[in-house]
Amino acid sequence: MSTLTVLPSGKTYDVAAGTTILNALLAAGEAIARKCEGEAKCGSCHIFVQEGRKTISRIQKLENEKLDTLVGVSSKSRLACQAVLGEVPVTVELLTFV
Ligand code: FES
Repeated sequence: MSTLTVLPSGKTYDVAAGTTILNALLAAGEAIARKCEGEAKCGSCHIFVQEGRKTISRIQKLENEKLDTLVGVSSKSRLACQAVLGEVPVTVELLTFV
């Protein structure tokens, strides 16, 4: 168990390790785009991981390829549907408003 803090709202939620950031956000009732429903194909769930980046799952090939096609990507970018939470608190910044 850990926590997920969501910016810009600043709300913090308890989350289970092994959960994708997307599923944690949806379970918390946060609005986030997810056009391909978590298959790393649309890029609409692009977020910035502001804290705890090194504690979530590593970027795999499919996610990396999709991130390469997006505008505004930085070293903090992840696809929420591909990033799996660990046991350490994480802070994410949402970019899209649904
Ligand atoms: S929901 Fe489409 S890439 Fe994450």
